[in-house]
Amino acid sequence: MARAIRPDTITTSRLVLEPLALHHAPQVTRFCRLWEVARYTANIPHPYPAGCAEAFAKDAASKRESGGGWVYAVTVADGGEMIGVIDITLCDKDRSGELGYAFAPWSWGNGYASEAARALIEFAFRVLRLDKIEAYVMVENEASERLLARIGMRRVGERMMPAPARERDVLCGIFQVFWSQVRR
Ligand SMILES: CC(C)(COP(=O)(O)OP(=O)(O)OC[C@H]1O[C@@H](n2cnc3c(N)ncnc32)[C@H](O)[C@@H]1OP(=O)(O)O)[C@@H](O)C(=O)NCCC(=O)NCCS
Repeated sequence: MARAIRPDTITTSRLVLEPLALHHAPQVTRFCRLWEVARYTANIPHPYPAGCAEAFAKDAASKRESGGGWVYAVTVADGGEMIGVIDITLCDKDRSGELGYAFAPWSWGNGYASEAARALIEFAFRVLRLDKIEAYVMVENEASERLLARIGMRRVGERMMPAPARERDVLCGIFQVFWSQVRR
């Protein structure tokens, strides 16, 4: 079952996804400290405290060890820089997972986030054998909504969720895709 699997690297035509580790922390800090990255996320505080990226990397390693989640550093292939983080957190109740991501602004608009998200969803369905992937997107986050539509996720509703960088709850669209919808 999914919880016994320890997959390492996932590759796409332009990207390498590898388990997030402590050595990625300086680059994570470089983009997560920016308001334009933090403002739409459910887990990046603003201002970004010292040690936050290191704590995030340690937590990622424990989640991975317990099988509770898979957090990847996204790097441009052939020695390029790390440009983002992407993760799937498993839900305890059913065979579903929640997708999350944040990319460095200087990498936006090149299709990198869509490419990484497609690969991670494929991994979640085929390797982790999940039945459903969900994502929550703040309603003003046009780029993220377009990304999810582009990779085949459908908006099924909305709910209020915490936005730590704004220190309040905000309205989020709920997006879903089922394995039965994309299986070939
Ligand atoms: C959302 C995010 C990951 C998109 O990254 P990206 O690498 O630019 O995404 P892609 O290049 O794959 O583009 C995905 C879609 O967003 C669109 N897009 C990119 N930047 C945009 C912008 N500033 N405004 C509106 N749409 C935008 C692209 O045109 C594309 O849509 P299309 O297929 O209809 O053309 C990135 O903006 C980000 O990290 N934002 C901050 C963190 C965040 O919002 N995380 C998501 C929380 S749910």
